[in-house]
Amino acid sequence: MKVRIAKASGFCFGVKRAMDLALEAAQRKSREKIFTDGPLIHNPQALKMLRKRGVVPLQEEKNNIGSTVIIRSHGVSPQRRRELDKISATVVDATCPKVKKVQSIIAKFAQRGFFVIIVGDGHHAEVQGLLGYAGKRGMVIQSEQDLTKLPLGKKLCVVAQTTQSRKNFFSLTEKIKERFPETEIFDTICEANRNRQEELKRLCPFVDAVIVVGGKESANTQRLVKIAQSKRVPTFFVESETDLDLDKLKHYKEVGVIGGASTPDWSLKRVVSKLEKTGNNNH
Ligand code: F3S
Repeated sequence: MKVRIAKASGFCFGVKRAMDLALEAAQRKSREKIFTDGPLIHNPQALKMLRKRGVVPLQEEKNNIGSTVIIRSHGVSPQRRRELDKISATVVDATCPKVKKVQSIIAKFAQRGFFVIIVGDGHHAEVQGLLGYAGKRGMVIQSEQDLTKLPLGKKLCVVAQTTQSRKNFFSLTEKIKERFPETEIFDTICEANRNRQEELKRLCPFVDAVIVVGGKESANTQRLVKIAQSKRVPTFFVESETDLDLDKLKHYKEVGVIGGASTPDWSLKRVVSKLEKTGNNNH
């Protein structure tokens, strides 16, 4: 089996920065636990490593008064920020600068009287945080069916969840523009994801199967799985090398491997090295 690794240049520095800030805080306050407002990264092995160093997700706020809380790269709504300020001694804001930028576009346009449309998954933490910046002047849409819910007679501003598929965002914004030509549109899709999506599309025609490595909960990794499936390439979604189904995989001559934007390098390397060993054993 030949393994072809996607030259995925887009790296998610947001999650890396959040991890670094959490580890720094853990080092400074070695006697205290450091809390994160939700899991810092969608990768079980990385979470295990953080836990060993005393960095754990915030569960019961009332028990954590006085401790350090890290806001993860997804960011939080202004209301959540106020809550965190109340319950903790120190809040370390690790919101990704790119998410911050989307937050500030939303706040600015909502203040100017625009109604803000966020193209994304309404259940995702980033989108919930973003929506908070619109106050009562915002909504989330995900598909064409949602376009019927757009408010009439309002100036509209459209942004994207940073992990949105470009195809979906552009097809929706085109339709919005047709109906509301004055709409302000901001392509806020992060290029870490953009590059990976493009590279995966280029890789698919050259391989017999694709392995996507990343956390099952990671939105940008899930997006890669969908893209590979849409290209009709057999697709395997693994969190680590232990998830590899070698019995199935050994039937493919050439396998492509791509990690999500937030998948740690070491995790991807372990998958590749196990595949290569299997490939060599089959010769
Ligand atoms: Fe930020 Fe892009 Fe990562 S928005 S959190 S660098 S995927």
